[in-house]
Amino acid sequence: MLTKKSRGKRFNSLGYIMIVTLCFFTLNSVFKGNSSEKNRKEAASNPQPSVIPDRIILTWEGDPINSQAISWRTDPSVTKAFAEISPANSSPDFVEKAKSLHADTVLVVTESGPAHHHSVNFTQLSPNSLYAYRVGSGDIWSEWFHFRTASKGPDPFTFIYFGDAQNNLLSLWSRTIRAAYSTAPSARFIVHAGDLVNQANNDQEWGEWFRAGGWIHAMMPSIPVPGNHEYARNKENNRRVSKLWKPHFRLPVNGVTSLKETVYFIDYQGVRIIALNSNEKPLEQKIWLEKVLKNNPNRWTFVTFHHPIYSSAKGRDNPELRKLWKPVFDKYRVDMVLQGHDHSYARGRNLPLGINTHNEQSGTVYVVSVSGPKMYEIGSRDWMDRAGENTQLFQKLSVTYNKVEYQAITATGQLYDAFEIIKQENSPNRLVEKIPAEHTFSSHKKK
Ligand SMILES: [Fe+2]
Repeated sequence: MLTKKSRGKRFNSLGYIMIVTLCFFTLNSVFKGNSSEKNRKEAASNPQPSVIPDRIILTWEGDPINSQAISWRTDPSVTKAFAEISPANSSPDFVEKAKSLHADTVLVVTESGPAHHHSVNFTQLSPNSLYAYRVGSGDIWSEWFHFRTASKGPDPFTFIYFGDAQNNLLSLWSRTIRAAYSTAPSARFIVHAGDLVNQANNDQEWGEWFRAGGWIHAMMPSIPVPGNHEYARNKENNRRVSKLWKPHFRLPVNGVTSLKETVYFIDYQGVRIIALNSNEKPLEQKIWLEKVLKNNPNRWTFVTFHHPIYSSAKGRDNPELRKLWKPVFDKYRVDMVLQGHDHSYARGRNLPLGINTHNEQSGTVYVVSVSGPKMYEIGSRDWMDRAGENTQLFQKLSVTYNKVEYQAITATGQLYDAFEIIKQENSPNRLVEKIPAEHTFSSHKKK
């Protein structure tokens, strides 16, 4: 039985706990409120379309040896848009030699209102040449940007690969793409392995994605594949790729017809990059993939898609894709598969039977990575050579005739993982570990 004194004491302690709890929830909601308010303001600060071109981005529709596609956005008052191009020269007089090309224009209506999305595909360019271009109309033009066409045939180059960007694109993904550019400013393109944004048709999120990359998008071509977050249900309740996908990215139409501009391949200086769409129709893509790999004159082959053949996150798996696509990768000795979706980091290889024997001979190397801030817990599995979590990363891949040098680098510029793949004549690739001595991530223990 409680005495008056002990009841008072109990009231005092209960009251104290209640006050502390109330303060905690109040402060918590204040901070959460501030945080969401901050995010809201960031999103709200995305400019609406105007007569000034924005969202300028390079992609390829045709052969990188002699073509370059460019897309950009204005408000609907710009009905005739143009792109100008000239061989770049250190003298500013290059502008006098510029040729003009009329853009294709489509109207897209989003929650931001109507916008005109313009694109051109420059063709008949010279190989391995530096060009300057700008986009606009009338008196309103972008600045001049540079790009370089690909060399004919094998020639060493570097490219960047990103896992999911997806969330807090402006506030937190921006540092990853900027670190990637600072580390490899001469990289020839960026592979985006899906989930570029969180909500497929949210124009504000796309605005953040473009602002995060800024003029990097206008100088370093993108090779994007759609993730599940680039899909949304339409009025008929069918899942469809974002209505902003094609207006933003002018891509090759050499893939599966019903998956136009989400399945395609690009040949670049001795490398075939194959983009697959892991969201739908995997069987149709398998048939197409066989053809594309069978008739592949390139020395190296990289495949990219979103949902990983081998998962890195706890409790995730994609057995259907593995069953359908992996035998094709094995048969045609695909060198690397670059994936996303699991919001953590892992890579593994040598899996003809689905088992990593951790020896020097390397079958296809599978990588899962993440560039944005959303993180999942890693699930340690037998397929992994290396694994890690809670780290924003970009990957730098340098390709020569006989070797691929691979590095995973953090958003703060630290080397996180590295290896080399050496091409061997008539035998599997050789993998040489180059793991940094001071690595800060969890590693999978060999059995
Ligand atoms: Fe995803």
